[in-house]
Amino acid sequence: MSANYQSGVIAQANSDALFITLNVKQGQDQQVVHALKQMQFTVDLLKARFSVQDLHAVIAIGSEYWDRLTFHISNPAPLRPALFTSFPVLHGATNAPSTPADILLHLRSNRRDITFELARALMALLGDAVDVVEDVSCFRYLDARDLTGFVDGTENPEGEHRKDVALVGEEDAAFAGGSYIHLQRYIHNLNQWSQQSVKEQEDTYGRTKDDNVEYPSSEKPLTAHTKRASLKDSAGDSIEILRHSMPYGNVTEAGLVFASYCHTPENFTLILKSMVEGDSHGHSDRLMQFTTAVTGQAFFAPPLHWFDEQVC
Ligand code: HEM
Repeated sequence: MSANYQSGVIAQANSDALFITLNVKQGQDQQVVHALKQMQFTVDLLKARFSVQDLHAVIAIGSEYWDRLTFHISNPAPLRPALFTSFPVLHGATNAPSTPADILLHLRSNRRDITFELARALMALLGDAVDVVEDVSCFRYLDARDLTGFVDGTENPEGEHRKDVALVGEEDAAFAGGSYIHLQRYIHNLNQWSQQSVKEQEDTYGRTKDDNVEYPSSEKPLTAHTKRASLKDSAGDSIEILRHSMPYGNVTEAGLVFASYCHTPENFTLILKSMVEGDSHGHSDRLMQFTTAVTGQAFFAPPLHWFDEQVC
């Protein structure tokens, strides 16, 4: 049986990615429905043509747009993924703004020209039905490091466990194989970051810089990013997300596009809350003093069958 999820939800990291966010123009929903129906075919065609470059796509719908879109396609009644809500608005030492967008194209491969080729093909299907909100081109930096110089993605779920973490299961049968996405673009203050000693930078993450070793739990400051981001539920199980974040930028503005994929939106919200609002003693994430979230969006990546079943 073929997989029912979009391959980019689970696939291992690539060296190149595009995060394209779009808003649908008024009165253009039918054209978008028509384009969505054809998109998976286009993705499959290019994946086959460029199989060596490990091409992957995720096409996802924004929380604020879902009902407007499915009004046009659902027969008989519009369905919504059970836990689909807006991006959480949080205020703490730093803010996490909510900036909704209608559609996300998260495209990636191991060659920039191939990722670009897929972007052009999908955008041609959408034609003039959409406005581009952002089109952020990301790259692998050194050995998969964030621009602050620390390896990013080490504690991501591995192997088959990636599916347990990222894919909706039978608890929401109509959307099984889908995934809740949270996207944030961060702008780093790299000048301020580089004024810290390496030890101060390492304390900020709770990991060593060059050889990427985790601090023993007892030595992690309560404000360390990996302290604030590694949470457990009441049963003692880890609260996990699958991260597909990647650096972007030029010499004037640079940072991270943070992307979380999960079977529930709650895990991201709990982790972000722990980072931004901190614990009851006010220990928030020190990393947030060196970077600013300028966007925040909640999307749902539907399972593959959803694209086939749409009614025009
Ligand atoms: C861990 C970077 C934002 C969740 C890490 C690590 C780095 C990193 C370098 C350590 C290695 C690893 O396990 O990947 C960043 C940067 C961010 C950012 C530069 C923003 C500018 C976020 C956000 C979340 C998050 C917004 C979720 C709301 C996590 C989690 C871990 C982690 C769950 C693993 C913690 C552990 O189990 O040790 N991050 N991160 N990060 N980050 Fe972030």
